Amino acid sequence: MAENLNIPSDIVDKSKKYQSLIPQIKALVQGEKDFIANLSNIMSALKYGMNFYWVGCYFVKDNELVLGPFQGPVACTRIAFGKGVCGASWKEKKTIIVSDVDKFPGHIACSSDSKSEIVLPVFKNNDVALVLDIDSAELNTFDAIDQHYLEQIVHLIESLL
Ligand code: SME
Repeated sequence: MAENLNIPSDIVDKSKKYQSLIPQIKALVQGEKDFIANLSNIMSALKYGMNFYWVGCYFVKDNELVLGPFQGPVACTRIAFGKGVCGASWKEKKTIIVSDVDKFPGHIACSSDSKSEIVLPVFKNNDVALVLDIDSAELNTFDAIDQHYLEQIVHLIESLL
């Protein structure tokens, strides 16, 4: 397992940052079979590699979402089906990008510092097993580029499930 991330500080283009980070994340989980250990490192690598405000996941458990490994300030522990951006992503089985959380009806504010968000569902046997939730302290952080690269992370998590 690799022990450090190396994202050259002169990389400003986010596609290039993801291109540098993703192979390192794959190396990070190689050779370790414990799912929670791998997921925990993936959350940390995304948070610190991309400099996001909050990165974490919520597991579908007993018909609600329950907080899993994350990096960032403490967060809400349980989210109901269809509630907030996470619950909506679970219900609609699709990635949701929110440019301004104040304009998303029902957004759950775990932190008032969070301004924009992306949530991606992770599937096992065609059902959502967990969602990957990333928050930014700035408006309009996430777009199709983030979705493209974060879906690669989702596929990696699916391969570990
Ligand atoms: N904002 C999310 C809740 C989880 S936190 O952002 C960590 C939502 O509306 O589902």
